Amino acid sequence: MKAIAFAKYGKPAMLKKTEVPYPHGFDASKNVVIKVHASSVNPVDKILLSGDLKMVSPVAKFPHAISYDVAGVVEEADSNGVFSVGQPVFTRVWGDESDGKKTPSYRGTTAEFCVARITDVVPKPDSISFEEAASIPLAGMTAFQALKKSGLKEGDSIFISGGAGGVGTIAIQLAKHVFKAHLVVTTASKGEKMDMCKELGADVVIDYNAQNFVELYSNDDGKKFDVCFDTTDESLDMTKVVKPGGSVVTIAGTPTLDEIRRIGGTAWILKLVLKRKEKRKEYKAALANKASWTYLFLSPSAEDLTELANHLAKGTIKPVLDGVWDFHSEDEQAGWQGAFTRSFSGRAKGKCVVKME
Ligand SMILES: NC(=O)c1ccc[n+]([C@@H]2O[C@H](COP(=O)([O-])OP(=O)(O)OC[C@H]3O[C@@H](n4cnc5c(N)ncnc54)[C@H](OP(=O)(O)O)[C@@H]3O)[C@@H](O)[C@H]2O)c1
Repeated sequence: MKAIAFAKYGKPAMLKKTEVPYPHGFDASKNVVIKVHASSVNPVDKILLSGDLKMVSPVAKFPHAISYDVAGVVEEADSNGVFSVGQPVFTRVWGDESDGKKTPSYRGTTAEFCVARITDVVPKPDSISFEEAASIPLAGMTAFQALKKSGLKEGDSIFISGGAGGVGTIAIQLAKHVFKAHLVVTTASKGEKMDMCKELGADVVIDYNAQNFVELYSNDDGKKFDVCFDTTDESLDMTKVVKPGGSVVTIAGTPTLDEIRRIGGTAWILKLVLKRKEKRKEYKAALANKASWTYLFLSPSAEDLTELANHLAKGTIKPVLDGVWDFHSEDEQAGWQGAFTRSFSGRAKGKCVVKME
């Protein structure tokens, strides 16, 4: 089968359309094969490709198909009959661990077929397309888990940085329409990104190139936030605008040692390069302000994806696509390369999707 894959760690130019083995030999009691209709690109794809995840999540075998998000139909059902052939599904794949390896070579989703654990797979809502569905799992579940971790509740105020990104676009909608925050403030650049954030539910959008959120919100305690959600590595600054008793949750920048251990990072060298949460200046700054600070990594959760699917089906939240690029085209702009170039630029407005079918 064909996949967008890399033969060794390196720059985005390492990505090539490559013949890789069809995913044979997986444990059919725990997995399904999905015929991919669409995948989406995330910043972590670039990090995996660069080799920076080697100590936590090494590539088991090259060439390695890239990406984690998929929407498609079940090609080979599991032997337990949880899913049936032809069923439309979506997920963020985590890899089949039945062979003892965390990262089998067929994990990537920008491929004609991929394997997913049945515990991660969720039926795709009928009301959204495969391309829309592929945009949701990784970014959507991260936003959802971060907001749950933050303790955000009805009537609260929340500051979300990076409102126009893959995570930010879903976080704004969840905060406003699901958690029922009374005030959602976000940052985006001027023009269509600011307009989009307002449409998604943000009450205030700060043009981050022109105004600094610390200057706007740190001097008046009454204006501070119950919750701050950081997607842009600005969580230290957020400790200045969070209320006493509030929380700062970050998914960006350097992770804490404890969180990386939680997701399976065991290499001893991590101890030399990462600090425990309590040793981090962000944590200490938040504590000095009687607030909490947490670094969060996404965890697998079919329950969370099911809840997102229900909100998508009801229209409470909607997918936000920067664009859709064609897997079959080698055109540098219109073809699959365009999706990676756009997403890896860090400038996308929502998600970059690769369409297969
Ligand atoms: N810990 C986890 O489990 C986890 C999971 C998912 C993502 N992440 C991380 O979270 C971050 C965001 O992910 P993502 O998928 O949302 O990224 P993304 O879609 O690539 O974000 C791009 C968007 O961010 C905006 N942006 C960049 N810097 C900004 C700033 N300083 N202020 C306001 N907006 C800014 C860009 O707008 P402009 O063009 O206007 O700058 C662009 O619209 C990444 O670092 C990613 O690695 C972590």
